[in-house]
Amino acid sequence: MYSSSPFVVSVVLLLSLPFIFLFAPRILPPKTLPAIPEPDEADDLALFRRATLASVEAAGGGAGVRRRLSSPPKIAFLFLINSDIAFAPVWERFFHGHERLFNVYVHADPAAELVLPPTKSFRGRFIPAKATQRASPTLIAAARRLLAAALLDDPANAFFALISQHCIPLHSFRYVYHALISDPGVPSPAAPLHRRHRSFIQIVADDPVLHNRYIARGDNAMLPEVPFERFRVGSQFFVLARRHALLVVRDRRLWKKFRMPCLKKMESSCYPEEHYFPTLLDMQDPDGCTRYSLTRVNWTDSVDGHPHTYLPAEISGDLILDLRLSNSTYSYLFARKFSPDCLNPLLHIADTVIFKD
Ligand SMILES: *[C@@H]1O[C@H](CO)[C@@H](O)[C@H](O)[C@H]1NC(C)=O
Ligand SMILES: *[C@@H]1O[C@H](CO)[C@@H](O)[C@H](O)[C@H]1NC(C)=O
Repeated sequence: MYSSSPFVVSVVLLLSLPFIFLFAPRILPPKTLPAIPEPDEADDLALFRRATLASVEAAGGGAGVRRRLSSPPKIAFLFLINSDIAFAPVWERFFHGHERLFNVYVHADPAAELVLPPTKSFRGRFIPAKATQRASPTLIAAARRLLAAALLDDPANAFFALISQHCIPLHSFRYVYHALISDPGVPSPAAPLHRRHRSFIQIVADDPVLHNRYIARGDNAMLPEVPFERFRVGSQFFVLARRHALLVVRDRRLWKKFRMPCLKKMESSCYPEEHYFPTLLDMQDPDGCTRYSLTRVNWTDSVDGHPHTYLPAEISGDLILDLRLSNSTYSYLFARKFSPDCLNPLLHIADTVIFKD
């Protein structure tokens, strides 16, 4: 009888231990949110290596440099979308006549059902995309993919502006271009201007959300690469200088931490895309960043992590003037979030207000 043989019971228990460890994780519900699929990660790594290599070669004096010299600096507009670019007609008016000074890149979630045909500036500008979700590092991965694609595509890309389908421009192209390109940059007279450009990225070190956001993957999960004192928060919507875009695409060290999925119980504190970029840049080049964003957002009465979404009835010339006002050196250049049906009211004030400056 088993009961008469404690030895047998112990042996059976001992032998079953490895099976418990092996199979329990498959039977119990997962404790974490979905991770980035390994094949996606491998594809990205290959892309980032190519972008890094191409940029290093260009800096070393290859064909890239000649192209850079023959072409004026450009702004890369990186559209990160999961639905139609409803404001494409506004962007077309913004871009019109400045074709030599910008490039557009679009990362559209493959699951997004896009019904509007791409307009002129967006046609043929879609990069190979992978699934994106909230509360996951996939939004960071998509932004890095856009940066890598833009780095590879054109050595003249000097600034990289992340935009969503809910964003609108608050000024004319000429104004935006001048604000970015003529920014004096970090004081370092010896370096050429393109090495001194600053990134316009919000970096906040003392926000009450930081603690929960930090432990979203587990209490000590970010150590040792990211001690809590170095953990930062800021808007996902940035304009990065080229050398910082390259720095992001080359990063492996922090990505190893930020790519970890959050614990399920921490889902409401899982916004990795608001931490990865400000933390990385504040560690690597704090003086090269303005610490503020150029994209205006309205957090009054926010619901479930979503900012105020402007509706058609709210659109007016006064709203645009109001949204431009900023406490920093520069006026806000972009704003979000606007519901798609704001298109007509926005077009109505495009030439008289938005692009008049
Ligand atoms: C911000 O949103 C609130 C409503 O949530 C609105 O009352 C306010 O006017 C908005 N502010 C601006 C500057 O648009
Ligand atoms: C400017 O700063 C003041 C005081 O800190 C703040 O109340 C206001 O909301 C800021 N305005 C903008 C547009 O950020």
